[in-house]
Amino acid sequence: MAALIRCAALVILVGLAEGLGVNWGTMATRRLPPKTMARLLRDNGFSKVKIFDADESTMSGLAGTGIEAMIAVPNDLLAAVSDFDGARKWVRANVTKYAFRGGVNIKFVAVGNEPFLKAYNGTYDNVTVPALKNIQRALNEAGHGASVKATVPVNADVYDSPPDNPVPSAGAFRADIAGVMADMVAFLNHSGAPFSVNIYPFLSLYGNDDFPLDYAFFDPGNGTGPAPNPVVDAANGINYTNVFDANFDTLVSALKRIGFGDLPVVIGEVGWPTDGDKHATVPYAERFYAGLLKRIASGRGTPLRPKARIEVYLFGLMDEDAKSVAPGNFERHWGIFTFDGRPKFPLDLGLHGGTPAMPKPARGVHYLPRRWCVLNTNSTNVSNETALADNVGYACSRADCTALGFGCSCGTLDAAGNASYAFNVYYQAQGQVDSACDFQGLAVVTHEDASRGACNFTVQVAGESLGTTAVNATSAAPPVAAWEWVAGVLAALLLLVSD
Ligand SMILES: *[C@@H]1O[C@H](CO)[C@@H](O)[C@H](O)[C@H]1NC(C)=O
Ligand SMILES: *[C@@H]1O[C@H](CO)[C@@H](O)[C@H](O)[C@H]1NC(C)=O
Ligand SMILES: *[C@@H]1O[C@H](CO)[C@@H](O)[C@H](O)[C@H]1NC(C)=O
Ligand SMILES: *[C@@H]1O[C@H](CO)[C@@H](O)[C@H](O)[C@H]1NC(C)=O
Ligand SMILES: *[C@@H]1O[C@H](CO)[C@@H](O)[C@H](O)[C@H]1NC(C)=O
Ligand SMILES: *[C@@H]1O[C@H](CO)[C@@H](O)[C@H](O)[C@H]1NC(C)=O
Ligand SMILES: *[C@@H]1O[C@H](CO)[C@@H](O)[C@H](O)[C@H]1NC(C)=O
Ligand SMILES: *[C@@H]1O[C@H](CO)[C@@H](O)[C@H](O)[C@H]1NC(C)=O
Ligand SMILES: *[C@@H]1O[C@H](CO)[C@@H](O)[C@H](O)[C@H]1NC(C)=O
Ligand SMILES: *[C@@H]1O[C@H](CO)[C@@H](O)[C@H](O)[C@H]1NC(C)=O
Ligand SMILES: *[C@@H]1O[C@H](CO)[C@@H](O)[C@H](O)[C@H]1NC(C)=O
Ligand SMILES: *[C@@H]1O[C@H](CO)[C@@H](O)[C@H](O)[C@H]1NC(C)=O
Repeated sequence: MAALIRCAALVILVGLAEGLGVNWGTMATRRLPPKTMARLLRDNGFSKVKIFDADESTMSGLAGTGIEAMIAVPNDLLAAVSDFDGARKWVRANVTKYAFRGGVNIKFVAVGNEPFLKAYNGTYDNVTVPALKNIQRALNEAGHGASVKATVPVNADVYDSPPDNPVPSAGAFRADIAGVMADMVAFLNHSGAPFSVNIYPFLSLYGNDDFPLDYAFFDPGNGTGPAPNPVVDAANGINYTNVFDANFDTLVSALKRIGFGDLPVVIGEVGWPTDGDKHATVPYAERFYAGLLKRIASGRGTPLRPKARIEVYLFGLMDEDAKSVAPGNFERHWGIFTFDGRPKFPLDLGLHGGTPAMPKPARGVHYLPRRWCVLNTNSTNVSNETALADNVGYACSRADCTALGFGCSCGTLDAAGNASYAFNVYYQAQGQVDSACDFQGLAVVTHEDASRGACNFTVQVAGESLGTTAVNATSAAPPVAAWEWVAGVLAALLLLVSD
């Protein structure tokens, strides 16, 4: 009997460890209802989800689903919760509140989101670790400590290898935050929480035409071509054929260097976007996910941790048309689902015996009426180029025009097509109100689908609206990328490849 119970417990533990996670961001002009989203997660077998706040509406969607949640303290609240009293209030309002049968199965609290990003100039360096410690202390005090762990999802730019020895085994934490990281890592080890890091091979390629394409993926040679030359880490003779492994092992080396070589690591974000850049395409995304998910399913880790199964939260669930495009136009196209919950490409989410299959779409999605807003070619103002440019600019600063870029899905439209596209995304984002399809008489509503080929003129969902203040093309969403670091590894790889 005891053996049976142990066995059952083991099965449960393994089951949990094997579940795939996904990031559910909500920076969209219009959103599907939280319950629809939670059902989408369950229908596709996700057992873990990571969100970027503890928003009541998102939490209400997760309540009762049993899905393990990583909820978050946003960066702008770090200072407030770096004080114990602030941390207690946060925990009471956002963790204790959902700790009941049928509530939310909270497993982690993400304290900040990439707070040590170089682009933040150290703004959060002094408050993040005190916030981490006080949130965990508040969790412990409220009796959640055994099941809920606080961690800090960091960007991969917190570690690197020296330029004169750019190999994973030489990895170390960035000099300017070495003290902060040592403090943080010791605390995570002490509290039994994992290190959480975001790793993006796509960013190694983005804007770097010399980066060897194959290194961004997990299938050297893509199964058809010859495998690329490996990058040899002379210190240990390990050959690297992809940047994910090299990046992860750089972190493992950095942890080892400060005495925590065995600290568990979870990948808080990993994925590939499908529009907004020449490398952000469905075929590349499909190739990346096929390799990643196969690797995860195999249970194999990276060369420095061959037996540690890779734990991930994919990034992300849906396209988010209100994210900041500061990192690049691809930012709004990370979803494995479109804005309205349609799958983009086949994925092995573990439901079909190792074969990739089209994920299940969101059910019961309600759309606005089949109406589009397009350029009114009869307008007396249509020949006024200033007026046209001004109005297109207005629409694109308040709605998502990233598909119009060079090499993107709507990149081959003419000027009139561009104008129609811009007017339509604005009109849809505004919930198709009549006043949103005027543009000084330059626009007119049509009932004919204005889509052209691969360029989809969408009809928005009849969901919740994000509200006008957040519909801002340059709102303060944090950038996702570790630009300098990625460029560093790129340079390192190139050096080695050209040897
Ligand atoms: C609960 O969390 C949300 C999101 O992080 C935050 O806006 C809110 O202020 C928190 N409540 C308290 C009392 O800290
Ligand atoms: C960081 O510093 C740079 C250069 O001084 C500046 O352009 C940028 O706005 C700063 N960012 C933040 C978040 O303070
Ligand atoms: C963090 O603390 C250090 C040392 O006390 C100080 O020099 C620095 O200005 C602080 N940084 C911020 C952003 O407050
Ligand atoms: C990490 O935590 C484990 C378990 O609590 C402990 O045995 C170990 O000594 C810690 N490692 C360090 C370097 O403090
Ligand atoms: C795989 O490689 C072949 C031959 O090099 C190429 O034609 C094909 O586009 C590649 N597929 C992907 C998804 O990159
Ligand atoms: C690593 O690659 C080098 C050069 O391509 C090769 O000579 C060596 O045998 C490889 N080592 C391993 C362990 O595969
Ligand atoms: C422009 O006017 C013509 C003739 O009145 C009409 O047939 C056409 O539908 C109008 N075009 C648009 C875009 O309204
Ligand atoms: C063209 O449009 C601009 C901006 O709306 C306006 O200021 C200008 O007067 C217009 N020019 C003509 C010739 O109508
Ligand atoms: C369409 O819009 C894109 C993005 O704003 C721009 O790069 C492109 O030049 C435009 N095409 C034409 C023909 O105006
Ligand atoms: C044309 O644009 C002007 C402003 O430049 C505006 O006053 C006028 O109403 C517009 N014409 C139409 C038919 O909307
Ligand atoms: C375009 O989007 C609509 C939803 O607005 C969807 O029904 C349709 O299938 C999409 N078309 C393509 C080619 O993706
Ligand atoms: C966009 O942000 C800017 C700067 O924060 C602000 O001035 C502007 O009013 C915002 N626009 C909208 C539509 O929210």
